[in-house]
Amino acid sequence: MTRVVRDPDEMRDVVATAKRNRFSVGFVPTMGALHEGHRSLMRASWRENDRTVVSIYVNPLQFAPQEDFERYPRNLERDVESCAAEKVDVVFAPAVARMRPPGHSTSVAVAGLSHDFEGAQRPGHFDGVATIVAALFCLVQPDRAYLGQKDFQQAVVIRRMVRDLQMPVRVVVCPIVRDPDGLALSSRNVYLSAEDRTEGLRLPRALEKAERAVLGGEADGDLLRTMLRDAMRSSRRDVTVDYADVVHPETLVSLGKIDGHAVLLACLRVGAVRLLDNRVVAPAGTPAWEA
Ligand code: PAJ
Repeated sequence: MTRVVRDPDEMRDVVATAKRNRFSVGFVPTMGALHEGHRSLMRASWRENDRTVVSIYVNPLQFAPQEDFERYPRNLERDVESCAAEKVDVVFAPAVARMRPPGHSTSVAVAGLSHDFEGAQRPGHFDGVATIVAALFCLVQPDRAYLGQKDFQQAVVIRRMVRDLQMPVRVVVCPIVRDPDGLALSSRNVYLSAEDRTEGLRLPRALEKAERAVLGGEADGDLLRTMLRDAMRSSRRDVTVDYADVVHPETLVSLGKIDGHAVLLACLRVGAVRLLDNRVVAPAGTPAWEA
């Protein structure tokens, strides 16, 4: 049975009981509107831990005033069913008032890694993410936390926070789950029309093309960046590239030349929707990348 917990104090009690029983705890933080991408994280946690906790919390701290906080898709009942189907033990769905009581004034900022790419488009976004994830880690006290590679920069930011603050959590990054056409699953894909989706496919296809070039021996960062941008170009004026880069997988520094693992990181804006995607690449013959 999946237990739904709304009260942070009750969450602490549930965790304390698990710890007393020496159960390992896996944790999947989410904002709900759960899809196969989220479910793949729950399955990874289920395989590797005695207990799995999923949080469902649309975090106001990570949305800018003009963003979609109010209309972000919410459906707790359906989400709890998805969690139950994946044998999740606890769904933690706190109210905003409990996570952000009056006078809440503490913020976690992961400098450097938070400022480019998503951070440049959404100032303050990663402070909001790091702050809530730190609070959730304190409440849930997981042994392992499961994040998606889909939000590559977010995973790198959280990893760095865990390292810098000596948090006793292992961050596990899981592969991107895609629809059969190649578009990465995202809760925001519901905002896309059929034509928007077709435009959006330029993003995974551009990444694939650049990866093929890398495997064929192309190592020049500038050339790959240009290739990505050209492959995403559309005649629609509301389809624009927010960023397309080739970066180091841990520092996110833009690379001039690829000589090991690198990440092709891109965001394509289709109308009002920002689609994120990435691919870890390396020259042919490089050993597999360990997330
Ligand atoms: P949310 O967008 O709901 O995503 C929750 C987790 O699911 C994240 O780790 C994200 O990378 C992962 N995910 C999303 N789409 C995926 C896909 N197609 N394949 C694999 N994993 C995918 O990310 C957040 O929520 C929030 O920022 C959060 C970390 C919960 C903090 O509020």
